[in-house]
Amino acid sequence: MNNALNDQINAELFSSYLYLSMSAYFESVNLSGFAGWMRAQAQEELLHVSKFFKYINDRNGRVVLKAIEEPQKDWASPLAAFEDAYAHEQKVTKLINDLVDLALSMKDHTTNSFLQWFVTEQIEEEATASQIVDQLKLIGDARSGLFMLNKELGARTFTAAADAE
Ligand code: FEO
Repeated sequence: MNNALNDQINAELFSSYLYLSMSAYFESVNLSGFAGWMRAQAQEELLHVSKFFKYINDRNGRVVLKAIEEPQKDWASPLAAFEDAYAHEQKVTKLINDLVDLALSMKDHTTNSFLQWFVTEQIEEEATASQIVDQLKLIGDARSGLFMLNKELGARTFTAAADAE
């Protein structure tokens, strides 16, 4: 179980890296609102890392960090980036579900209980990315819509306390 949780730390760190890379892409195409949203998302992923880190230590396990994969650096469009973000969150949901399956198979109820926060969190993670994908599809090639969404997403700020709930 400890090894599987360490793998999840790596997956959450990669998520943060991926969103930071998406932020850099959005900065490069002058969509600073989208870029700011992605930076907040990258920070939220680090909060997920710290939850696993603390849990492993609380249970007298051993955190072992592994190499983080290099993320993609360019996307064809804002829609392509958010489609990737949505697909990535679906992948993370599967990883969390696999961890729950493993915990249950080992009758590790403590870890199962800990993981339930992430099961719930993934509902929001998928829904948020999916909503933005839908909005970008509606906007299509309308630049005014893109600028409005850019402004809206730029209003997101990350607060560790609020996101930890
Ligand atoms: Fe750590 Fe976006 O799930």
